[in-house]
Amino acid sequence: MNKVILKSPHGTSEIKIERGLMGKVNDMIHKAYPNARLVVITDTNLAKIYSNYFKTNSDELVLTVPSGEESKNLNSITTLAGKMVEAGIHRSDVVVGIGGGMITDLAGFLASIYMRGISYVAVPTSLLGMVDAAIGGKTGVNLIAKNILGTFNLADYVLIDPNLLKTMPEREIKSGMGEVIKYAYALEPKILDDLDPLNVDAIIEKSVNTKIRIVASDLKESNKRKLFNYGHTFGHAIEAKSGYALSHGAAISIGMNISNHIAQKLDKQSTQLSQQIKDTLEKHGLPTELPANQSIKDLIDLIAQDKKSSGKKIDFVIVTKIGKSEIIKLSAEELIDIAKDFK
Ligand code: GLY
Repeated sequence: MNKVILKSPHGTSEIKIERGLMGKVNDMIHKAYPNARLVVITDTNLAKIYSNYFKTNSDELVLTVPSGEESKNLNSITTLAGKMVEAGIHRSDVVVGIGGGMITDLAGFLASIYMRGISYVAVPTSLLGMVDAAIGGKTGVNLIAKNILGTFNLADYVLIDPNLLKTMPEREIKSGMGEVIKYAYALEPKILDDLDPLNVDAIIEKSVNTKIRIVASDLKESNKRKLFNYGHTFGHAIEAKSGYALSHGAAISIGMNISNHIAQKLDKQSTQLSQQIKDTLEKHGLPTELPANQSIKDLIDLIAQDKKSSGKKIDFVIVTKIGKSEIIKLSAEELIDIAKDFK
């Protein structure tokens, strides 16, 4: 087993990576919380596959929401919390989120506010969850835009079983690869040596270590953690405008290309690097152009409402060299002006 500890001034999270770990998760959680009841939160599709690993005693509660980003909202939170109250779940119990980023964001948020906070364990089942969403304590639900309501709540444990990816649809693997490519170009070029879904163990390990390195000193994203938002400023808006028909990874792939276009126009990125990133994304089946029904102007209107706007300026991440990125501040007007000719 590969065990990594994320230690931050705001708490600690233990991340375990092991093939076959899913079969041990129930025992591990019961051992870690001997007197707690487990509240498993997952989606209706995943419940068919994974709820057998739970319900080993009548004290375990399995709660589901419909699969898909549409479930990541306050209604789901109040419904789930209501069921937990009815079942007599207390602050000494533990929430276990089993699923992709939608579920771990939702379950982590619920755990952070239920009775002012109860223990939380994340079991990511998608590549995107394993390399990014479940690591580092970001939780939340969507309201108008993505992740408008949320908390920083480190999971006590993040339990990763790469075997679960064997049954992942290709679209989900591609989506996760979008985040992995982001890590590689914005922060950790060593990941480029393993950019193949066949090397998934190395990809997960290197991505988790990259995430931890940054988040340990900046959990609350006041500084370096913002670099993980490479491609996300436009990516979140593209994803929302598509009604979540585009996967997160596909949306941030287009977002990374818009960021590269802006960086080039500001003379901060070479044409060669921009082409290399585009080629890498396309090689992994990710889109690099805006959907026909979206425009830069509409996206920027949405971005202006997003949480990454600070005052009138938007924190915008650009990649300057392979593995090196920086934050620049641009107003919505400047963004429109520089990005308007992106296709
Ligand atoms: N997904 C970006 C972050 O966790 O900061």
